[in-house]
Amino acid sequence: MSETGQIDSNMIPQHIAIIMDGNGRWAKERGKERSYGHQVGVEVAREIAEASAKLGVKYLTLYTFSMENWNRPVEEISALMTLLLDAIEEEVFMKNNISFRVIGDINRLPLHIQERLSSCIDRVSGNTGMCLVLALSYSSRWEIADTAKRIAAEVQNGTMTLNDINTEMFGKHLTTGFMPDPDLLIRTGGEIRLSNYLLWQCAYSELYFCDTYWPDFKESELVKAISDYQKRERRFGKTSEQVS
Ligand code: IPE
Ligand code: IPE
Ligand code: MG
Repeated sequence: MSETGQIDSNMIPQHIAIIMDGNGRWAKERGKERSYGHQVGVEVAREIAEASAKLGVKYLTLYTFSMENWNRPVEEISALMTLLLDAIEEEVFMKNNISFRVIGDINRLPLHIQERLSSCIDRVSGNTGMCLVLALSYSSRWEIADTAKRIAAEVQNGTMTLNDINTEMFGKHLTTGFMPDPDLLIRTGGEIRLSNYLLWQCAYSELYFCDTYWPDFKESELVKAISDYQKRERRFGKTSEQVS
């Protein structure tokens, strides 16, 4: 059977969010530095982005660097920043017709990375295939609090009233407001937690946890996760009879 043979191409999740975890442990098991795990992890991210685009996924949101990750040793942060800089290649986006966005507190990133990101975002903005979203210096609680602040300012200056506030409009004001909520959230690396990722947006996402360390997560594992997702019944509070 081909790798994609086990999934229904008519039921591909529109939006997949991934917590790419396990790079450090993967490297350590091989007697290598953590940064080697990150290096291989970047390659895998590229492969999974290309595979997702080919499968027909519309949005892929990758947890690349959390706000909490700023607390890691400076050498590791700096290695990650260098890898990020090298990884943002227009070529990959152009070849696969992928557009690009970032979410998170981007202002905390080094200026040259901010510039590289925005130039790449602009250059590939005409691409009409999948949208790749990198969560960088991202924290879901920060995002929610920041959104509340921006909405409060609009109420204060009169461009909005209190009655305009509801869950739908709040979701649209989040940095992820341009895309639908994730249908499927994947976390690799064996931990069963969300680590401050897309807490609002994953209210009704299907969650998939696997032990595979991110550097070992291949296209076949992605297919396995989608296949698992396709077996689930998404009820959104209704009964099985109502949705079937
Ligand atoms: C995920 O791998 C990558 C980032 C958080 C940047 P880790 O670096 O967390 O790897 P483990 O969890 O320590 O193995
Ligand atoms: C979550 O992984 C962040 C990213 C994958 C970028 P962590 O490895 O930082 O998560 P915790 O700290 O173990 O929860
Ligand atoms: Mg980790």
